[in-house]
Amino acid sequence: MTHMEQPTIAAEDGRATAPTAMPSDAPLVLRGVTVSYGEKPAVFSVDATFPARSMSAIIGPNGAGKSTLLKAALGVIPRLSGEIHIFGRPIEKTRERIAYVPQRASVDWDFPTTVMDVVQMGLYRKVGLLGRLSGSLRGRARACLDRVGMADFAHRQIGQLSGGQQQRVFLARALAQDADLYLLDEPFAGVDAATEVAIIDVLKLLKTQGRAVVAVHHDLSTVRDYFDHVFLINVRRIAEGSVEAAFTTANLQATYGGRLAATHLDELSVAG
Ligand SMILES: Nc1ncnc2c1ncn2[C@@H]1O[C@H](COP(=O)(O)OP(=O)(O)O)[C@@H](O)[C@H]1O
Ligand SMILES: [Mg+2]
Repeated sequence: MTHMEQPTIAAEDGRATAPTAMPSDAPLVLRGVTVSYGEKPAVFSVDATFPARSMSAIIGPNGAGKSTLLKAALGVIPRLSGEIHIFGRPIEKTRERIAYVPQRASVDWDFPTTVMDVVQMGLYRKVGLLGRLSGSLRGRARACLDRVGMADFAHRQIGQLSGGQQQRVFLARALAQDADLYLLDEPFAGVDAATEVAIIDVLKLLKTQGRAVVAVHHDLSTVRDYFDHVFLINVRRIAEGSVEAAFTTANLQATYGGRLAATHLDELSVAG
């Protein structure tokens, strides 16, 4: 296969349509999104569509705007321009359908709070900030901890856990939210192999339950095993589509420029 042309899918009437043509009620759609912290945009005029019942990876070099894109998708940082739709509705009206797991390095782990507290934070939208957690919600928080193998650590201070354990707790909090769209920022960064397997199992289960998972992902060697869909970014959108169509040598080259060796690229993308 040559990687030069944009992959296309033949429509029923024979016209070629872009592979990104998807229903406008897709879990996450960005149109012309630009975000800037200073003079230079971190994310520039990005269009993207993340499909339902899929695991999607956001891929790009350090500083490419991946975390910024996720935060924009959450509606927690202001954008200069553009629109974001979650399941066909403006983000401002649909935020409660999203669960977010931040990049671990961006969290202050010294704050004095227990594992159980962190998971219960995921439930506050259901009870209101001043509401009391009912027994059934507390049971649900415990079940989510159990799902990620952290039930025995409920009363531990979060700062006393290993990186992998902290990441499991944040995943448990996201599960407790019972969301339809899961946004995760480098969920596998700095975790041990057992935690990586535990996390991917949970994410695959979410997918089989019909939810959409979108994760910033830095390990190119696992993209094919873990994901269905990729979005490649370097400030601007480089490419998007199914792993098969869009995770190509040419697109990786365009995304990383000279930062990946040619031999490395060949190993990663489509064989032959
Ligand atoms: N809070 C911030 N204030 C100023 N600049 C920022 C901030 N967050 C990120 N940036 C800058 O925006 C660009 C994109 O950052 P980021 O979205 O974190 O990239 P990535 O997650 O792809 O590594 C980088 O140049 C980064 O330095
Ligand atoms: Mg980042």
